[in-house]
Amino acid sequence: MFKIVSLPGDGIGPEVVAGAIRVINALADKHRLEISIDEHPFGGASYDLHGDMLTEETLEACKNCDAVLLGAVGGPKWENLPHDKKPEAALLRLRKELELFANFRPAKVYDALVNASSLKADILSGTDFMVIRELTGGIYFGQPRGYDDNRGWNTMVYEHHEVERIARLAFDAAMKRKKKLVSIDKANVLESSQFWRNIVHEVHKDFPEVELTDMYVDNAAMQIVRDPKQFDVIVTKNLFGDILSDISGMITGSLGMLPSASIGTTHAMYEPIHGSAPDIAGQNKANPIATIASVAMMFEHTFCMKNIADDIYQAIEQTLASGLRTADIAQPRDRVVSTTEITDAIVANL
Ligand code: NAI
Ligand code: MG
Repeated sequence: MFKIVSLPGDGIGPEVVAGAIRVINALADKHRLEISIDEHPFGGASYDLHGDMLTEETLEACKNCDAVLLGAVGGPKWENLPHDKKPEAALLRLRKELELFANFRPAKVYDALVNASSLKADILSGTDFMVIRELTGGIYFGQPRGYDDNRGWNTMVYEHHEVERIARLAFDAAMKRKKKLVSIDKANVLESSQFWRNIVHEVHKDFPEVELTDMYVDNAAMQIVRDPKQFDVIVTKNLFGDILSDISGMITGSLGMLPSASIGTTHAMYEPIHGSAPDIAGQNKANPIATIASVAMMFEHTFCMKNIADDIYQAIEQTLASGLRTADIAQPRDRVVSTTEITDAIVANL
């Protein structure tokens, strides 16, 4: 029995999560899996009901399930609340409470969408790599931090166990893919990066089959755009990963296509990387594929059913190949369909 907590959230969140849940239910039927899905209010939707973006009840539910599926939070209605009451604060708190220290962002190019990117099709075609970003350490959390009239300062600090656990996850991920790991740092300038590099090499001894390469972050930024096909799995610290995962995502084309997984030792959360898209909310126009692909990541990482994950990617691929597009990924001659229509097609292809 798998327990999923769904947090549809705000804007298009409920629309794309509804699509993803239809996919989960279809798969549960087909493979006779026992999956329970419990919905809880989160973000603005929760604030309107309870005066709190993340209630203790929602938090407890998230701590007591196998996987959280999140839509998106926020919108103009809640923009003027004080900083600590905003949806972003609730999202950060949730990630912290669940100790989600690794963020997985695939950069996968679907053949049917190879022309949607700003890169040339022949450079992009066949691109399929994973960026693994450390999420709870490094300069975003290091002490001391602050500024006065004359100085501003932050501290890039990692503990041994923080680097070791993310390195292990990354080698594990590489073992399940093409066994190629690139660790990205700035060891030529930063001692904390030399420390990172040393530990990654220590962990490598337990994964001799994986080919490990070190790369400086500035070179990596260039290489991702120059020849993205060279990568299989990338692992990097929080700050570098923040930037590189956005570059990697955007070379593939559309926000509406990009899933993510945030993983810890005991919890996991799956969500599209896009926001609540207030401009198209409530119009049945949103692209649900990012959220449906997040469900594929859930099947792979949390339920350990890679075959079902592959079935989902295949159903997405087939749907796109048949020419169906939501408005965000449509080219002039494509047939533009709604959120529910493209979900229908994906479910049918499953
Ligand atoms: P956004 O990602 O919501 O939208 C950016 C643009 O992409 C919009 O034009 C939108 O229509 C389009 N878009 C996004 N997802 C789409 C999808 N699935 N299908 C089709 N089109 C899609 O980012 P924006 O506009 O900066 O933020 C809107 C709200 O979302 C803000 O309140 C922001 O704080 C919140 N937000 C929440 C996030 C989360 O919950 N993880 C992440 C980013 C933003
Ligand atoms: Mg970012």
